[in-house]
Amino acid sequence: MVPLKRRKVSEINTESKCSKANATIKFPDAVLFLLERKMGASRRAFLTQLGRKKGFHVEEILSETVTHIIAENNSGDEVRTWLNSQDRVGHQASLHLLDISWFTESMHSGHPVQILDRHRLQEEEQSDSEAAVFTMPSYACQRRTTMDNKNPILTDALSLLAENAELSNQDGRGVAFRRAAAVLKALPEAVTSMKQLKGLPCLGGHSQRVIKDILENGASDEVQSLRQSERYQALKVLTGIFGVGAKTADRWIRDGIHTLQQLRESGHTLTRTQQAGLEHYEDLNMPVSKAEADDISKIVEVVVDSVLPGSQVALTGGFRRGKQTGHDVDFLITHPEEGKEEGLMTKVVSLLDSKGFLLYQQMTRNSYVESEDAPALASFHMDRFERCFSIFKLPKDREESLKQLGSLYPKPAGGVCDGRAGEVLHRETSQSQGSHSEVQEEVKEPKSWRAIRVDLVVSPFSQFAFAQLGWTGSKLFERELRRWAGQEKRMSLNSHALYDSKQGKYLQATSEEEIFTHLGLEFIPPSERNA
Ligand code: UTP
Ligand code: MN
Repeated sequence: MVPLKRRKVSEINTESKCSKANATIKFPDAVLFLLERKMGASRRAFLTQLGRKKGFHVEEILSETVTHIIAENNSGDEVRTWLNSQDRVGHQASLHLLDISWFTESMHSGHPVQILDRHRLQEEEQSDSEAAVFTMPSYACQRRTTMDNKNPILTDALSLLAENAELSNQDGRGVAFRRAAAVLKALPEAVTSMKQLKGLPCLGGHSQRVIKDILENGASDEVQSLRQSERYQALKVLTGIFGVGAKTADRWIRDGIHTLQQLRESGHTLTRTQQAGLEHYEDLNMPVSKAEADDISKIVEVVVDSVLPGSQVALTGGFRRGKQTGHDVDFLITHPEEGKEEGLMTKVVSLLDSKGFLLYQQMTRNSYVESEDAPALASFHMDRFERCFSIFKLPKDREESLKQLGSLYPKPAGGVCDGRAGEVLHRETSQSQGSHSEVQEEVKEPKSWRAIRVDLVVSPFSQFAFAQLGWTGSKLFERELRRWAGQEKRMSLNSHALYDSKQGKYLQATSEEEIFTHLGLEFIPPSERNA
């Protein structure tokens, strides 16, 4: 008996090192960490492997992504003391400190069970002098975050660290910094001392160090040197090309390519998207103004309406949240009669193209099929709408746009434009005038147009509310909504649908408000989703 047992334990130990990469994670939003203290190494290894086998995400080390800490025979205060000694966490109110009973029940149920009071490790109340200055719920989708950020210096620093992590394919670290930045963005006033941060969620040790540096010295050395580093600057330049992601940029940098000039001279084969991205590099890296977004809206509305009268065009993305500038313009198109929207994209795109409004376009077809049973978890978060990534050619002169729209342009009797349409292209010429780029130097006359990234998405009417919620952003707000749904409600949310695992059925909605209600959340309007 004894030898068999021993053999098992050692097998488990060796397996656990490599099993993580192989196991499929079914519940990505709950990131577990088993505390070895009092549990012992072999039991921990066994439970780790068991969890992974059942599709749980169990971390070996206490990384920034961990959301659940599981302890056996430890008090809440003991775990808190241990956490504080780990450099990382400080006061991580968002971390669940749980008794092993939560883990065993979850293993038994085959999914993360709802966290009840009896699962939580009890901690002693804080004394009054330590009481939190600010309180904040831990999910960004439970908070109101306007464009009025009271801590831009701190959030810029954390966002830069997040961006660098994402560009280096360290998504977990990226999310941790994004969450920390989002907490500061939601504060009602500027932070002036570390004491004010006590009790706030999502502020990991690393984020706290950066904040402390800035509060004490006016800047963070880490952030400063990162910003100036050759690698970061090269990553920024290269991923600034439409169609170039972090992986491609990294490969090019390893080939010694740091600039556009070096890329052009390298003889690397570029995709059609990347060629267009390189060609219009300067325009596409200049922020799009709200006025330009409105002009494009009108063009899209006129074209869509002429293809299929009664269609609805909605501006979404950052502009719907009230941003004054963006990196692109996002539209959602639908028709109140379900099914009428089929094939709409192709017609809209070819009409835009024939009227001279497109420099580039790539369409993807709708591949969404609602399954009878529970949705397939691995692919549920993918967006499957009929979609078009495009680069618009927006004339700087509105008269030119009117000419291009030609007979599509709605003219009331008498041939005078009505008020709505007359607004079509009132806009000051864009900032891009007089700019020089490597590309444009050969061009003698200033361009009469400007390239702008536009995303068009067609949604069936029955999915429109989900599409709107999914495409309004911010990216972190969306991520947190999905994490909330999965972790707190055992539901799966994407831009097509909401599935309730407890009831085993899809929940319908015709407005964003209804979706928030299904999720048990207070409605947050778009202007307060700027997390
Ligand atoms: P964007 O990347 O356009 O971001 O995605 P944004 O908030 O509008 O900001 P800027 O100003 O353009 O940079 C808009 C929303 O669309 C969703 C994102 O999650 C985001 O919420 N989206 C984007 C998808 O759902 N799928 C995609 O493939 C791309
Ligand atoms: Mn956008």
